[in-house]
Amino acid sequence: STINHNFDVGWVYANPDGLQNRPVIGINGQWPIPTITADKGDRLIINVTNSLHNESTSLHFHGIYQNGSTHMDGPVAVTQCDIPPGSSFVYNFTVDQPGTYWYHSHSRGQYPDGLRGALIIHDPESPHKNLYDAEIVLTFSDWYHSLMNPLLNSFLSISNPSGAEPVPQSSLVNETRDLSVAVEPGKTYLVRMVNMGAFAAQYVWFEDHTMRIVEVDGIYTEPTEASMIYMTAAQRYSVLITTKNSTAGNFAFVGSMDQDLFDVVPDGLNPNVTGWLVYDSTKEKPAAKEISEFAPFDDFTLVPQDSEPLLQHVDRSITLDMKMDNLIDGANYAFFNDKTYVAPKVPTLYTALSTGANASNPEIYGSYTNQFVLSENEVIEIILNNNDPGKHPFHLHGHAFQVAYRSEEEAGPYDASQITDGTFPASPMRRDTVLVNPNGNIVLRFRANNPGIWLFHCHIEWHVASGLVATMIESPLSLQKQLADGIPENHLDVCKSSRVPTAGNAAGNTVDLFDLAGENK
Ligand code: C2O
Repeated sequence: STINHNFDVGWVYANPDGLQNRPVIGINGQWPIPTITADKGDRLIINVTNSLHNESTSLHFHGIYQNGSTHMDGPVAVTQCDIPPGSSFVYNFTVDQPGTYWYHSHSRGQYPDGLRGALIIHDPESPHKNLYDAEIVLTFSDWYHSLMNPLLNSFLSISNPSGAEPVPQSSLVNETRDLSVAVEPGKTYLVRMVNMGAFAAQYVWFEDHTMRIVEVDGIYTEPTEASMIYMTAAQRYSVLITTKNSTAGNFAFVGSMDQDLFDVVPDGLNPNVTGWLVYDSTKEKPAAKEISEFAPFDDFTLVPQDSEPLLQHVDRSITLDMKMDNLIDGANYAFFNDKTYVAPKVPTLYTALSTGANASNPEIYGSYTNQFVLSENEVIEIILNNNDPGKHPFHLHGHAFQVAYRSEEEAGPYDASQITDGTFPASPMRRDTVLVNPNGNIVLRFRANNPGIWLFHCHIEWHVASGLVATMIESPLSLQKQLADGIPENHLDVCKSSRVPTAGNAAGNTVDLFDLAGENK
């Protein structure tokens, strides 16, 4: 069936951690924004109107393959122009994959201001559907008291030569710090979890309840027990949790930000958010235990339920050496192979569609899109060497990749001569967002079977802003045929509307915003 939504995107006020009332980006005057739900095979038609007045926007449906609809993927300057204030844009695509996803703005560092929500695609044929009685959706996230625009301006400035990322103030679950989830005894719940944060990975555990992992980033897994999971920004896990047989007590669950990511740990940080499985609302909600009592689960050991074998024969291997460094202006940037991503003036998709046979020539996409033209049906391998002492969650649009290899931290660049038969799993886990260890490396594989323009980037929003982004231009000639009937007129209309600078005067912006949010109150 077809599911229609009208999303009017505008500023509202919210105070999710009880410490700071601030403007946040809501939908139809509400924040948190709605969860989108659909069944596998449904068509989603989402009419977005930008009522922000001072910022452009866009929506990306994270993890959705957009097979045949790359122009609905959402990243600004990649598959569309940004949607200026006062304009509308229609996202129209089918969802042929079950699982736990999310949607978020893909316009300059914007989603941590609140434009982020869950996207759940139900599967009438789920192999797990007889294993649970009900579903629970939990979104974990980090929260900043300041707006992204001023934070981005100071993060990217010469007064921050070390590239220290702003540290969030609080951890949230379902965009609050006061969440009770009513459960019944003797039942099994499918708990779908998303990390919608800008920066922090989250350790998640449920006290005295074991998780059985059954889905990761939309891919079904062999059910696997875990007492704690580690979920980077943008990752998802679905777990089965069976409740106790009695209502004798309530139990805490925790999202705990990985503070190793932070250069400084400020006073007043709320690194943990506690919620409760409430069996009996008249009973107390106990405090959570210390994190050291649990050990996180290694996602590399998971096996996909379809046991898809390792892609053996690699047609094209791409090595990305990443680092963070200063350019001559003194500000900190992020690099793949010594290039920091700079968004092109014309969205990369339009270049691919309008250049005929030249679309296969990487040169036409400009010098700073970190572009790779992939040939149809080739098996692509990405070797990513993290020459940085930080952890990074890498995400590929349009695909779930096989995680063939992940080194320990400090292993240095990937060395194929160290790999023996059996180093790579026979059936590697697939997912769309993966952690790379500090000064470590990772090997990802996928088949180029989805013509489109797909970003590959670190999902830490600060690092997107500092250029840790590459562009995969997949089968551009097939893409031209696929979209030969053109893309809807409305798609181009937003490019014609007058632009607004998104990196405006930070102080001025803040004042404006409070007025704008007040208007919507
Ligand atoms: Cu969650 Cu480029 O995306």
